Amino acid sequence: MDFTGKTAIVTGAAKGIGRGCAEILARNGANVVLADINLEMAVETEQAFKKEGLQAKAVQVNVKSVADIEKMVQSAVRSFGTVDILVNNAGIFHATPIEEITEQEWDNIVDINLKSVFFATQKVLPYMKEKKSGKIVNLSSLAGRNGGFTNGMGYSATKAGIIGLTRGFAARLAQYGININAVAPGSTDTGILDGLGESEIRSLTEKIPLGRFGKTAEIASVVAFLCSDEAAFMTGAVVDVNGGMYFG
Ligand SMILES: NC(=O)c1ccc[n+]([C@@H]2O[C@H](COP(=O)([O-])OP(=O)(O)OC[C@H]3O[C@@H](n4cnc5c(N)ncnc54)[C@H](O)[C@@H]3O)[C@@H](O)[C@H]2O)c1
Repeated sequence: MDFTGKTAIVTGAAKGIGRGCAEILARNGANVVLADINLEMAVETEQAFKKEGLQAKAVQVNVKSVADIEKMVQSAVRSFGTVDILVNNAGIFHATPIEEITEQEWDNIVDINLKSVFFATQKVLPYMKEKKSGKIVNLSSLAGRNGGFTNGMGYSATKAGIIGLTRGFAARLAQYGININAVAPGSTDTGILDGLGESEIRSLTEKIPLGRFGKTAEIASVVAFLCSDEAAFMTGAVVDVNGGMYFG
């Protein structure tokens, strides 16, 4: 995989899977925009990347705001000239029982996890259309495939929604040379599932045929492949990376 000269925006890149995605893209030559709501952590990540000689720029964004998304894209263009790759990774999880989810909580998770994917795609489109090429990868989830956790209906709805957006965009953007795919990770060792109890985590692990949570690098390598020329004939795909828990 060679991303030399390409510019990639990765949302939620300060830590976890997003950081892993930014790392592999940058190590293979990309200029990466580390877009995150947590600017302090994004700047720490930028510094760590720069120590390794990688090209990176931290940018603050709250992906639930379309104005912020617009600024994030402008900042990428100002720093590196264009946008070739977008990884829609930023997301939150909630562990709230059906009876207790409020309208505000529902709107918040839908805005962060799903609305952001639509609008970030919309805002990078002019740049990708102009050069008739682009790669977009969206982070869905096993929860979007199998209905998810009992206490996480909003989360699984957003992750299933991402699959719908991925397929809808793939059909409509192929004419511009844009590939858009999704990765659906199973439980991955990042801390996002900290809201679940210890016993839930234990029983979750027992259900994974490979017997463990995934590592961020094991998700990031699949994302990077989908961003690469080697995956040029893939679009609208949902790639399950879950240790054998669900076969699609
Ligand atoms: N870890 C898992 O088990 C798992 C499984 C399936 C899917 N996923 C998906 O992968 C993606 C990354 O998950 P992770 O485990 O690395 O999460 P994480 O919590 O470790 O990291 C998420 C990052 O997103 C940032 N972020 C959160 N809200 C934001 C906002 N409003 N605007 C901008 N940035 C924001 C956070 O600051 C953080 O840096 C998410 O979309 C998640 O749903 C994760």
